[in-house]
Amino acid sequence: MRTPIVAGNWKMNKSAAEAVAFVQEFVGSIKLPEPCNAEIILCPPYLAIPASTDALTGTNFAVGAQDCFWTERGAFTSQISAKMLRNAGCHACIVGHSETRGKFGKLEVPESTLGFFAETDETVNLKIKSLLSEGLLPILCVGETLAEREAGKTDAIIQRQLRGALEGLTIDQVKTLVIAYEPVWAIGTGKTCDCPEANRVCGQIRAELGLAGAATRILYGGSVNAENARALFSEPDIDGGLVGGASLNPDSFGKVIWGTWTGD
Ligand code: PGA
Repeated sequence: MRTPIVAGNWKMNKSAAEAVAFVQEFVGSIKLPEPCNAEIILCPPYLAIPASTDALTGTNFAVGAQDCFWTERGAFTSQISAKMLRNAGCHACIVGHSETRGKFGKLEVPESTLGFFAETDETVNLKIKSLLSEGLLPILCVGETLAEREAGKTDAIIQRQLRGALEGLTIDQVKTLVIAYEPVWAIGTGKTCDCPEANRVCGQIRAELGLAGAATRILYGGSVNAENARALFSEPDIDGGLVGGASLNPDSFGKVIWGTWTGD
């Protein structure tokens, strides 16, 4: 039995004070399934991580980061290591998000700025290994662009991303990961992947994981909201969600989490 997981990716939103205000409202007033059968993770921007971990102390909710660097310390201007995240109280970290892998789907950026966003399958692999060595939970994002989907390349792209990201990991390590299927065309667009197709791709991911597949949690992400969460999370191969926009508000995020609840 895989424990569902819902992670809120706040992206470049919320100051430390806004994060604390969110947590107070979320923890204080949000009605969650009892007992809450899902693991809930909030992923604030780096600067709001310490305030968020403090505010969540004593609750069942955990904090994750949105990226990391794979070397423990050194002359790597601007970077934050997995060890630093662990020391700040993080439990998890997103890696390979399409917004860090390549140009943001929704932002026109000149070709000359692309190096800034150039996360590759190889760097994703290094980040996963450093997170695992620090005992942190990697949330690996994979997914195809609209052009790749229209060219019939969805499964091949995801297979390449998985093979690159998981290179050198043991079956037991792969079992502990969380993988989020996030079609790039569905992120922040309001165009959710329909349930059977999202489930089909998550099933393909599970098959690609081989012996680890039955244990690994696989999420769907891309315009998940209070209205569509339950249908998506009820699919057999979808173990919860990675949620962007709908995680910014305690009420809508609470309703998304309710989507994992299968009781009365
Ligand atoms: P969205 O973002 O829910 O706003 O589409 C999801 C994500 O990027 O993880």
